Amino acid sequence: MKTFYIETFGCQMNAHDSEKVVGTLVQEGYNQVNDEAEAGLILYNTCSIRDKAEQKVFHRLNEYKKLQGEGKRFAVIGCVAQQEGTKIFEKAPYVSLVAGSSSYRNLPEMLERLEAGETRITGLDDRQTDQTFDTEFTARTNPHRGYITIIEGCDKFCSYCVVPYTRGKERSRTSASVLAEAQRIAQLGFTEIQVLGQNVNSYRDPSGRRTFAELLVAIGEVNGIERVRFTTSHPRDFTKDIVDAIDATPALCDHVHLPVQSGSTDVLRAMQREYTRDWYLERIQWTKDAKRDISLTSDIIVGFPGETGRDFEDTITLLEIVGYDAIYGFKYSPRPNTPAIHMVDSIAEEVKIQRLAILNARQRDIQRVNYGRHLEQTLTVMVEHAANSRGQITGRSTQNKTVNFTCDTTPAIGSYVDVRITQVFPNSLVGEAISVPIAPSAALLAQQALNARVTVLG
Ligand code: 5AD
Ligand code: SF4
Repeated sequence: MKTFYIETFGCQMNAHDSEKVVGTLVQEGYNQVNDEAEAGLILYNTCSIRDKAEQKVFHRLNEYKKLQGEGKRFAVIGCVAQQEGTKIFEKAPYVSLVAGSSSYRNLPEMLERLEAGETRITGLDDRQTDQTFDTEFTARTNPHRGYITIIEGCDKFCSYCVVPYTRGKERSRTSASVLAEAQRIAQLGFTEIQVLGQNVNSYRDPSGRRTFAELLVAIGEVNGIERVRFTTSHPRDFTKDIVDAIDATPALCDHVHLPVQSGSTDVLRAMQREYTRDWYLERIQWTKDAKRDISLTSDIIVGFPGETGRDFEDTITLLEIVGYDAIYGFKYSPRPNTPAIHMVDSIAEEVKIQRLAILNARQRDIQRVNYGRHLEQTLTVMVEHAANSRGQITGRSTQNKTVNFTCDTTPAIGSYVDVRITQVFPNSLVGEAISVPIAPSAALLAQQALNARVTVLG
């Protein structure tokens, strides 16, 4: 029997790539196991976005070394695979396959070569491809959410970012193929879809039939779909019709993740973000002028080369103007192949640490106020975890806020419950169920049982 074990790190794109890789392997006659010692093939889906990602990968590979044995094979895939390429064979000779995400559509052929005994198989030369990795065999491993990648790669080349080098050039799927996938997800019983792309709103329908906003509306109108999320939007391509689509389509969630990276126009220029502070704030104003209460979240990098105290102050004032519901703050870290690696990493580590702490403290105050507004409101929550250690059920509101609540019954994952908010914290809300849970369909429960074995780390 052919068996495999997969470990996944990184963003949601990577988690979803793994779902497609798992589906492909199963289609090729492999069985997934949860114990790496039992697996014939061990796959490691890697991320290289920040810090010393490649060192961590080699460290983990070193641990794999102990598992070497008769017929056991190792594959390194994803962003570090693409970035380090055949260096992986030099440092970890027991690895037989190294492949970046642009080559996954060739996986069946690579697996055949692996089974034939080849030990130096690469999928590294496809970054200029126009093709996307579409498969009907996706393993839907998330118990309540179906992912759809509508655009792969990235052509933005922000000066700090590895993604254009690891995931290749931007390419979109036809809206017809996206909608067919949305239908399949609905038929499996999922009511929530997350639309994915590195720059999801840079989507360009190759058939020319739909804009990104029109595609969102069409997904939101698929029978059975209650919630549609999309990530990550780039401010440069964020158009007003996206806000209008949210206003007009009940299934589109009240949430936009719009990473600003910095509040300083000078730093934005050095980052090659192709917008200014004012341009960004104009887009924020569109979302604030919407009829719906759209929650905003962001990614922010502190300590980019040359960032002055004044620039950092601009980021703090921007936080206050926008009033985000969450931010993901990062210290700048130089990445291989990126233009910024040639700039002097001029901000001392202590200063980066200090700026990140100030950023997070300021953001916490903002969230305390924002989350405080929900006290005594009733929010519809989709259940994500059956019960935590305190016996609370955990789920999310349309705004993507975590809600922990008590309920007389134990609602299944994927149920919807109306919850009255009784307590507020800067990162979560607490409440009690005031409606009988609307249970997920039998189809979703069957799908959840099928995927109970799948592991995703990260
Ligand atoms: N250093 C720090 N943060 C980074 N990000 C991307 N590249 C880097 C880097 N070199 C952050 C950005 C991006 C998020 C996914 O990771 O904020 O939006
Ligand atoms: Fe990590 Fe970026 Fe690759 Fe996602 S695309 S896995 S965040 S390096």
